[in-house]
Amino acid sequence: MGVIALARASSNGFAVVNTRPRRLRKCHNISDLRRLAQRQLPSPIFNYLDGGAEDETTLRRNTSAFDDEMIIPRCLVDVTSVATKVNVLGQDLEWPVICSPAGSQRFYHADGELAAARAAANAGTLYSLAAMSSNSLEDVATASTGPKMFQIFIFKDRDVTRDLIARCKKSGFKALCLTVDVSVRGKRERELRSGMGIPMNFSVASLASFALRPRWLYGLARTGPFSMPTFAGHAGSTSMVAQTRYFGTQLDASLTWKDVREFIDLWGGPFAIKGLLSATDARMARDVGASAVMVSNHGGRQLDGAAAPFDALPDIVKAVGNEVEVILDGGVRRGVHVLKALAHGAKACSVGRPYLFGLGAGGEAGAYQALQILKTELIRSMQLSGCTDVRNIDPEILRRHEGPRAPMLQEPAPLDAR
Ligand SMILES: Cc1cc2nc3c(=O)[nH]c(=O)nc-3n(C[C@H](O)[C@H](O)[C@H](O)COP(=O)(O)O)c2cc1C
Repeated sequence: MGVIALARASSNGFAVVNTRPRRLRKCHNISDLRRLAQRQLPSPIFNYLDGGAEDETTLRRNTSAFDDEMIIPRCLVDVTSVATKVNVLGQDLEWPVICSPAGSQRFYHADGELAAARAAANAGTLYSLAAMSSNSLEDVATASTGPKMFQIFIFKDRDVTRDLIARCKKSGFKALCLTVDVSVRGKRERELRSGMGIPMNFSVASLASFALRPRWLYGLARTGPFSMPTFAGHAGSTSMVAQTRYFGTQLDASLTWKDVREFIDLWGGPFAIKGLLSATDARMARDVGASAVMVSNHGGRQLDGAAAPFDALPDIVKAVGNEVEVILDGGVRRGVHVLKALAHGAKACSVGRPYLFGLGAGGEAGAYQALQILKTELIRSMQLSGCTDVRNIDPEILRRHEGPRAPMLQEPAPLDAR
């Protein structure tokens, strides 16, 4: 995309995209991108993206958990330049934040996963493609030259999973992640209210919200109806409703650890298990041969009441941190959150909504901007904390926050007011 091709290097060495639409230029953090996405997307779509399960306590805790640790910065350290490069799942990355898998990204922008994969590649990181993607795995494989991971489920029909693995090998995916926190689907009440379910049953307000987003509707008209093309052959239909129903029939609630090893062996490369919160499970993952664990609760979309990844991280690092890569997935909205996770022993973080908000706010340029915001915030946080290398963050910089937290004095100003 031209916007990113036109990026020029600024004096501090980071890419500055100076041709972004004005509305994107007004976004200075992930929360700004979220609000812009909210304005641009039909409300059922935005709430599908933004929401979590039941009372959303886990969703909120995923981010607020970071506030329970303070940083005690070190001073008079030469932080003229800090090292951010890291190797995750066998891939050399510019910095330690990867993109989490999320289905149906054409909901957020007509170019969907193709745009997000290009944004990740331009931001120097790994893009994870969800099994339930709205562009085919073969098309996403060729959309960018950046490293990509494919997210699988072990379906009831194991041949479907075997077929996906064979196609990933053929298409040049570098790693696999197996999601294990979807034995059944979480109860997401925002979706129930808006009618964004199967079958879709939109309220009048929801339908009006679609009608009021002509740009979004134009994108849909330009690129054709939603579907999950990676699955079309298995579902025997090109209809999204039929494919989603098929997917529902394929979730295997009887899956156990004994089913996993076959697929790790079949892949034979870097393999992450995504959706663990317990140290015991992390040990099981190590024992079946996984190379990484993604400490995650599916972005608060599955079990409401589940621990936040940041809360679960220290025990998992203690249990397996020397043997497998530990990736914190969920709740990251600031660069300093990444710094805190690394200080607790995570090798990297993975983000979902941040780049999806960016995608909804401004397509590829918006997704890229979300990643750049996190990257520059991480670098600034490292400099201000006296940390010089992401591979070597001193755990001593963290201190548990005791006592009541100061209330936020003022809500951030609305986007329009800036
Ligand atoms: C809209 C949406 C769709 C998602 N779809 C999937 C999916 O298909 N497979 C999967 O393993 N995780 C999925 N996830 C979970 C993400 O991979 C990731 O765990 C989560 O977004 C991390 O939390 P964060 O959004 O706070 O960064 C999805 C998350 C969101 C927000």
